[in-house]
Amino acid sequence: MKLIIINGPNLNLLGKREPEIYGSTTFEEYFGELKQKFSTIQLDYFQSNIEGEIINKLHEVGFSYDGIILNAAAYTHTSVGIGDAVKGISTPVVEVHISNVHSREDFRHVSYIAGNAKGVISGFGLNSYVLAIQSFI
Ligand code: DQA
Repeated sequence: MKLIIINGPNLNLLGKREPEIYGSTTFEEYFGELKQKFSTIQLDYFQSNIEGEIINKLHEVGFSYDGIILNAAAYTHTSVGIGDAVKGISTPVVEVHISNVHSREDFRHVSYIAGNAKGVISGFGLNSYVLAIQSFI
């Protein structure tokens, strides 16, 4: 089983960024815990603040991996390009958010990814990633 977590813009600031919403753990720390918890699967991680790099990564992994866990962050609500990439690949994608986007501003209620995703997990803090991994195994 080969899964990848792809994180979008500003998620490199986890731990420092709006901790009341996103918590005080860095993603690197958390990813270490995930690797231990799911030690029998290959779990990879990619983060970029650049839309095209996220699209390139989706193309790179999207015909060979068993699953993609995608937190496209703000691009979720704006990017037709990432939405089209999710539609164009064969690997199933689970859309993930740390916060509950539906309890926040209206612009966060729109997703260009959800319609082509296997499912959406939002609002469980970093545990959203655990739930997404579990959905593939
Ligand atoms: C987020 C929610 C998005 O609305 C926001 O732009 C993010 C993070 C989340 O994980 O809760 O950067 O995707």
